[in-house]
Amino acid sequence: MVLVSVGVWLGWQQRHRLNDDAALSAQAQLGHQIFHDTSLSASGQQSCASCHLKESGHASARGLELGGPDMKSLGTRNTPSLRYLWQNTAMHLNDEGKAIGGFFWDGRADSLAAQAGEPFLNPAEMANTDKASVVAKLSRASYAREFEQLFGATIWQQPDQAFAAMTQVLASYQTEDPDFHRFDSLFDQVMQGRARFNAAQERGWALFKDPEKGNCAACHTAERGPDGSPPLFTDNSYDNLGVPMVFPPTTAASRQPPDAGVCTHPLVRGQANANTLCGSFKVPSLRNVAVRRAFFHNAVFTDLRDTLAFYATRDTDPKRWYGTLTRWGGVPKSLRANVNRDEVPYGQRAGEQPRLNEQDIDDLLAFLTTLTDADLVPRSASPAGSVAAANAVVRGAQRVASPMVAANR
Ligand code: HEC
Ligand code: HEC
Repeated sequence: MVLVSVGVWLGWQQRHRLNDDAALSAQAQLGHQIFHDTSLSASGQQSCASCHLKESGHASARGLELGGPDMKSLGTRNTPSLRYLWQNTAMHLNDEGKAIGGFFWDGRADSLAAQAGEPFLNPAEMANTDKASVVAKLSRASYAREFEQLFGATIWQQPDQAFAAMTQVLASYQTEDPDFHRFDSLFDQVMQGRARFNAAQERGWALFKDPEKGNCAACHTAERGPDGSPPLFTDNSYDNLGVPMVFPPTTAASRQPPDAGVCTHPLVRGQANANTLCGSFKVPSLRNVAVRRAFFHNAVFTDLRDTLAFYATRDTDPKRWYGTLTRWGGVPKSLRANVNRDEVPYGQRAGEQPRLNEQDIDDLLAFLTTLTDADLVPRSASPAGSVAAANAVVRGAQRVASPMVAANR
């Protein structure tokens, strides 16, 4: 079975020219420059790459980021990873009327290009006043000549078209550059029969898929796509996990209306059950989750093990997560009725034995570290921290991984 899937995977990879470091198209090369250009922000200090760091899997190193004209405005949402998004689509409703796809935590952008227009004008991010001011900066950039070569020397006289071209170019970069879809994690090597999980990773993988235990794969898809594409660990759907508020309910920030997530999207707003979807956010891919520093849409957790423990004991020990208001708040009142309480790993009662015990959580953690792309596996293991330790195991396994393993099976 392993060998059959190797064939399917290689065929898919060839068709999609993944990991092909051959030169990017002129558009994508230009996109690379724009992505890293801080002169396109009002502060002159921020580019896409300031928040989406390559070494964090194109997520941020701290979750919530500062931005704005003076770099003093704090964003309210976690900075997601930009890897493995390139095949995502605009939001649509599936046969069951469920919202699937879309970019951002609430799915509001229909494509990478549509997404790329927002940060330039977001007052808490790159904070330009309008498209024309971005285009004026672009026309003075060191690569302005390349831009003209692609779009014509008169492009600067049409700021709307120039702005749209710039967002297309950014989408090309994120689509073409192999960094955004390497598929070379230990997990991928195991799926190709070129490496093996250790015992903890193997147990974690089983728990991840077990519908009675982790049931993680119900949303974080672990199956190949119909075209043989490797699993992305998301079904691009939306759910309300009852993520605790970041601010204790007494602070000014918590008096803001709660973040409603996907129910503000026009496609969802039109549905009869729209209100029940308030508080739902997009299922993120779990590829490279072990190198992220903040978790969930509001970045409430900064430790991956806490994030997993939350899944395990949200319902059996709610006080741990919602009780200590100095640390975390509860779920905003207006969104409480919408929290998913039916699906495993949820649906237990306070005081019951959790479905996932401490050992299971460690095993799930060990499995999640196998989803780290090879370029992100830390070089030096620090003795502290279970993720670092688990990454050391991944590194070891990646060293011994070779096609011989498959041949000898
Ligand atoms: C100040 C930090 C910051 C900057 C600068 C920034 N981003 Fe983001 N990015 C975020 C945050 C936060 C989100 C999530 C926002 C939301 O969901 O409402 C995000 C979301 C995204 C997404 C959607 C990911 C998904 O899972 O749907 C893409 C794509 C993206 N950014 C690309 C870019 C590009 C391209 C640029 C430069 C034009 C950029 N970002 C600049 C912080 C930033
Ligand atoms: C019912 C669907 C569903 C199930 C089942 C599920 N998840 Fe999630 N997961 C989500 C959604 C939705 C989010 C984002 C929620 C948010 O930010 O409000 C998420 C976020 C995460 C994150 C944070 C990632 C990030 O970048 O912020 C981790 C880690 C995670 N899930 C791991 C797991 C594991 C491990 C399991 C199994 C024990 C699991 N999930 C089961 C839907 C699910």
